[in-house]
Amino acid sequence: MCGIIGYVGKQKAAPFILEGLKRLEYRGYDSAGVAIFQNGSFSVLKKIGRVANLELEVAKVNLGGTYGIGHTRWATHGGVTDFNAHPHLSSDGKFALIHNGVIENYASMKKYLLGKEYTFASETDSEALCNLIAYHYAKEPVTPQQNRFLTSVRKALLHAEGTYGIVVMCLDHPGEMVAARKGSPLILGLGDGENIIASDVSAIIARTQSVVYLNDGEIVYCTAKEFQITTLALEAVSPTVAKVTWNVADAEKGAYAHFMEKEIFEQPLALENTMRGRFSGDASTANFGGLNTTPIEFRGIERFMFCACGTALHACMVTEHLIEQYARTPVECDYASEFRYRNAPLFRNTLFFVMSQSGETIDTLAALREAKRKGYKVLAINNVVGSSIAREADGGIYQHVGPEIGVASTKAFTSQLLIGAMLALYIGRMRDMSFGEGVRYVTALKSAPNLVRKALEQAPHIREIAKRYAHHADMLFLGRMSLFPIALEGALKLKEISYIHAEGYPAAEMKHGPIALISEHCPSVFFAPRGEILNKIISSMQEIKARKGPVIAIITEGVELPEGLADELIVIPDCHDAVLPIVASIPVQLLSYYIAIERGCDVDKPRNLAKSVTVE
Ligand code: G6P
Repeated sequence: MCGIIGYVGKQKAAPFILEGLKRLEYRGYDSAGVAIFQNGSFSVLKKIGRVANLELEVAKVNLGGTYGIGHTRWATHGGVTDFNAHPHLSSDGKFALIHNGVIENYASMKKYLLGKEYTFASETDSEALCNLIAYHYAKEPVTPQQNRFLTSVRKALLHAEGTYGIVVMCLDHPGEMVAARKGSPLILGLGDGENIIASDVSAIIARTQSVVYLNDGEIVYCTAKEFQITTLALEAVSPTVAKVTWNVADAEKGAYAHFMEKEIFEQPLALENTMRGRFSGDASTANFGGLNTTPIEFRGIERFMFCACGTALHACMVTEHLIEQYARTPVECDYASEFRYRNAPLFRNTLFFVMSQSGETIDTLAALREAKRKGYKVLAINNVVGSSIAREADGGIYQHVGPEIGVASTKAFTSQLLIGAMLALYIGRMRDMSFGEGVRYVTALKSAPNLVRKALEQAPHIREIAKRYAHHADMLFLGRMSLFPIALEGALKLKEISYIHAEGYPAAEMKHGPIALISEHCPSVFFAPRGEILNKIISSMQEIKARKGPVIAIITEGVELPEGLADELIVIPDCHDAVLPIVASIPVQLLSYYIAIERGCDVDKPRNLAKSVTVE
């Protein structure tokens, strides 16, 4: 959470930083601020609310400097106020700092610094670090070979506990920037006569596609023309310069009203990109280039463990279902945030997977580290190339769906479902799945983009339904088997972007509690695909109907429901079981999207949320 960007170069810093902040806004949007060095001092502007508010303030003044930093905040320590917005200045005015993360020992730092006559203008943990840098700068002797600015940042960080991605400027060192990371993402973009430091690639892509992904424990010093990276322990680091494969247009809305809408309608293409080149020549199984795991190793695995957060966890739950069904191997799923602390006993021959769109979710990263610490191999399913999770995993599968910017995950989710289905095939073919079954499975997966296109054609119909249900305060999502996690996801989507209270349940479980909520004011969205338990699902619908609950039924083509049972019907194409969760996700994404629009909600930036949760 929080987006940070620092620029040093030959162009005006403020417009570029504001543009970058808008691209980083999905990381947090409680407040935003910039500090630009000009005429020998820092001009600092901070404003609560969106970057657009800050932009209005910036337009009132002339910010001409070519060296500056900016921040968009997701509040942790201290309320949403202009004072608590970043950048923070040290009380001697020498340093300006932006920070993403949490300095856990800030209270003791602050107490110590108050005793040394440093003062504080905010309630944030970040300001304590900024003053600590100033303290070291004022106090510590340096050798002629040492850069005093860099040394003071490094010394302060040696006392910092918690997580940080920071960028710092110093009045005495114009044109020099120091940045460091521990637990919060940070990249260095290498431009032509300019260098940029940012939380992620989206902020810099307009200027350069050459990036260095910084690692935890590294500190970078840069000017417009050069950069050096070392560890905090002063070991030299030889940087690897990577090329970003997507461009500015991928990170823009184009003709769509919202990123979420764009990303929903991009799904056929996203699925094609996820699958591309990943089937065997005989089209009977999947191939993954980066698993770093031999078939012999896979064959010896007795259990798979999946950890993730939020939407990605729902994708893991569907994957569990498919691997157990098609590869007949036990799978366990857990919230990454729980797994990291619950000290779970694990079977010896367990292969560990983490799933994360951003690759930066701190709990998922911590689960990965915990599994590795216990000696397990960990593979990652992840969208963002070069992310922390991708780099720390022993191997993995990239999703290749391009940047996902809407806070509510859509195309990344269906891509994760597809990878889960491909994994089930891959493992299944190593076990009991026949060649013929594999070929049918591959054919089905290849049809997924077209089936999704067909499901998307329901958009105008779903929009009409949304108009009729947008005023409700509660909603249930009910599904069974592999569609139970899609019910959870449907409820999560609705909650996230429309603030309607929603719950997902296995349809039959509804009578053990949630049925108490049913009335004409609480609609239920049912998944009722063809299959052997359709009649059981119909019985659950009858139970809702008998209590006057409105029913929105999502059925596959060919399913016939008893007359009058469903108040609303959404028909999706019938398909292979491995593809069904993908296709069934489309109507619930559209329903939440259109309901949120009806309610006038800010779809891409729902209140209190952030896309990439890099604090615990
Ligand atoms: C946040 C986002 C969710 C996302 C979750 C996990 O809570 O708002 O949309 O599913 O993080 O994110 P990840 O990047 O790890 O998939």
